[in-house]
Amino acid sequence: MGVVLSVRNLDTEFRMRSANVVAVDDVTFEISEGECVGLVGESGCGKTTIGLSIMRLLQNNGHVIGGSIENFGKDLATLSEEEMQRVRGNEIAFIPQDPMTSLNPTMNIGRQIAEGLIEHRGASVEEGRQRALGPETGVGRRIMVLVRRSFRPWCPWSKE
Ligand SMILES: Nc1ncnc2c1ncn2[C@@H]1O[C@H](COP(=O)(O)OP(=O)(O)OP(=O)(O)O)[C@@H](O)[C@H]1O
Ligand SMILES: [Mg+2]
Repeated sequence: MGVVLSVRNLDTEFRMRSANVVAVDDVTFEISEGECVGLVGESGCGKTTIGLSIMRLLQNNGHVIGGSIENFGKDLATLSEEEMQRVRGNEIAFIPQDPMTSLNPTMNIGRQIAEGLIEHRGASVEEGRQRALGPETGVGRRIMVLVRRSFRPWCPWSKE
């Protein structure tokens, strides 16, 4: 199986007024096609920072200062912001830790799910909406499960 994502000797630091903090120090790993890799470590060891470094979504004070990140052999550091925007969501998707600060409260859920399909797959707004909420994704059904379970019925009976 070919290597899809290759992270080599990654160093990421956060620059603060008082000091620079090295949050990721010489991290190397690879993910091959069809492989599922889990990154495990204590809180604050840098897992999220690695993810944000890969996606080039670090906060302004975060900087990748060493190493390389290749997606299908292409160094992500060399991509323009526009090219990187095509990689995000389309090829590499990041599921944030905190949905309450990651979802956009001014847009309904259907529109937020459809956004990627519209941006990356050329779907029209209506197609995006249909595909986001249709049987393909099962979102409608999952919403029904949430609605029904939210008040903790003693018997959460389901047809299937
Ligand atoms: N914007 C920032 N500025 C300064 N330090 C930061 C910033 N973001 C993260 N850090 C620091 O970088 C280190 C790594 O944080 P990170 O969030 O990557 O850890 P984590 O492994 O994802 O932790 P958790 O398991 O709690 O999610 C921590 O010491 C954290 O305080
Ligand atoms: Mg984290």
